[in-house]
Amino acid sequence: MNKVEIIGTGSYVPSKIVDNNELSHTVDTSDEWIISRTGIKQRRISEGEDTSDMATKAAINAIKSAKIEVSDIELIILATATPDNFIPSTSCIVQKNIKAVNATCFDISAACSGLIYGIDAAAQFIRTGRFNTALVIGAETLSKIIDWKDRNTCILFGDGASAVVLRKGEEEGILSIKTGSDGSKGRALICPAVPVNNFLSGNEMYLNKSTVSMDGKEIFKFAVKVLVKLVQELADESNCDLEEIKYIIPHQANYRIIECAAKKLGINSNKFYTNLDLYGNTSAASIGIALDEVYKKSLVKRGDKILIIGFGGGLTYGGIMIEVL
Ligand code: COA
Repeated sequence: MNKVEIIGTGSYVPSKIVDNNELSHTVDTSDEWIISRTGIKQRRISEGEDTSDMATKAAINAIKSAKIEVSDIELIILATATPDNFIPSTSCIVQKNIKAVNATCFDISAACSGLIYGIDAAAQFIRTGRFNTALVIGAETLSKIIDWKDRNTCILFGDGASAVVLRKGEEEGILSIKTGSDGSKGRALICPAVPVNNFLSGNEMYLNKSTVSMDGKEIFKFAVKVLVKLVQELADESNCDLEEIKYIIPHQANYRIIECAAKKLGINSNKFYTNLDLYGNTSAASIGIALDEVYKKSLVKRGDKILIIGFGGGLTYGGIMIEVL
């Protein structure tokens, strides 16, 4: 089996900042409530850019940091819950934008675990020798599926994109991966697509509501449970103590989820890298935005271990232990 290295990261967020006070003009909420329940202070909201636009900018940044030619990319996997279209896939639009003519492209739908699932899939293609270089993108325009009158959800989310370049390597950069799903709890976080609405269905007058609804408490409990489980299992599988992990980069959903998990694990919550105060929950983009920040700020050095963990709609979860090379 081939070894897999992470050789570049990139990210992009829209320039428009919407802080909690601004949201309190549209729904009955307050800066104090949002910060105390979630840790979120502000989020970035697209003023017109779609998922492929942000994904393209994150991809260009990642390709620059990886110092590869665009023509080297043989695979583009894009994780999103907010594609531009049903057809074509958003990954194909990014391919066109960056001119990655040698790439096979497809999207995956795993909500906030999307980047983890994407890296997992790309790593398998590289390990088996099918492709040498892959671009994995997590990108979301959640603002287009949010009900901006629902204070239970609209305060949580933001828009953004991130990307990671993987390549067949001399050394092993991905020490272990775990993923899982629980479709039986899928309704805890849902955004319906188009209903069956043809000349046979009798549903022609059905009013489609494509906005997010969520059972916040159910998701909270699930998130804490899988975060703790993945940290323990991935540390065991990689033969390392929790102290040896430089950063745990969780999906950036809610600071209280992270604090609860840290307490259960008996570790300082400072070990968890967070930036959700600035960007909110950007779903498939969030882990990659944080990972890019960690690399770009030179917060890690060769040999450090980073654990990235996702959880969310589906329900889905997954984590990857990375060694910085
Ligand atoms: N501002 C003010 N009040 C709000 C509010 C808001 N934005 N949203 C909800 N409330 C109210 C509720 O209506 C409720 O009022 P009531 O007691 O009169 O019914 C009260 O605050 C408490 O609501 P509750 O749902 O118990 O709050 P909570 O402590 O569970 O926090 C979440 C709510 C959504 C922040 C929390 O459950 C959460 O973060 N869950 C996980 C969500 C998530 O991360 N989803 C994405 C995962 S990928």
